[in-house]
Amino acid sequence: MDWGMKNRMSRIFKEDGKTVMLAVDHGYFLGPVSRLEDPAKTIEPLIPYVDSLMLTRGLLRNCLDAKYNIPIVLRASGGNSVLKEDLSDEAITVSMQDAARLNVSAVALSIYVGSEHEHQTLTNLTKLIDAGQDYGIPVLAVTAVGKELEKRDCRYLSLSCRIAAELGAQIVKTYYCEDFEKVVKSCFVPIVIAGGPKLKSEEDVLEMTYNAIACGAKGVDMGRNVWQSNWPIAMITAIRSIVHEQASVKKAFSLFESLKNK
Ligand code: R5P
Repeated sequence: MDWGMKNRMSRIFKEDGKTVMLAVDHGYFLGPVSRLEDPAKTIEPLIPYVDSLMLTRGLLRNCLDAKYNIPIVLRASGGNSVLKEDLSDEAITVSMQDAARLNVSAVALSIYVGSEHEHQTLTNLTKLIDAGQDYGIPVLAVTAVGKELEKRDCRYLSLSCRIAAELGAQIVKTYYCEDFEKVVKSCFVPIVIAGGPKLKSEEDVLEMTYNAIACGAKGVDMGRNVWQSNWPIAMITAIRSIVHEQASVKKAFSLFESLKNK
């Protein structure tokens, strides 16, 4: 890996090799999703607690002050909306020149393995990786499933993550699942987990985080389970304690409880 790319990776992954990323890119196909209607209001209070932000260039340019020294993972795929049944018909939506102009630490693109547009999303990934190599900008591949959430099992996610790594993605973002250690073991680049739709309780989110890290994930790239919580700062702090301080679920949950009414 070249110096520029290594340097960008080290901005996202801290000295312990782990990262707490906050995903706020949902508007690229969901529009004004609940609690992100006014993005700055939701995002700014969380910035001191996260290692990077994953978002779109529209949100970045319009809603986030350039004074923040926070590594940016720029959403670089899209081209459809939640109104369509099949979400896999994505294109590359940002040039690498613009990503460089925005001084981002990585770009992110979704792949839809097994979908109607599998080939298109995988070749989008390779094009973005080639462009990223020219600029020293790493590519994070998201193993997306669109509306087919039931696809998220070990066999499917192992296949998708491994393909993303084989095609050259420097980081893979996927979902937690049963036997997750097999997904991590078969993927030779760092894996971070998405949170997915809001879980029943904060404790469930902490348990998922704990299990993912115990299975070898290098961190989280979560959204809704943080900023749709009524206590987002308490939530991200508790998640952080698991990722960076090896806290148990019990310890992280009592930290959450102690912070939530402050
Ligand atoms: C999809 O909308 C985005 O790629 C999100 O960044 C990703 O799904 C992670 O967010 P969440 O934890 O809300 O699933």
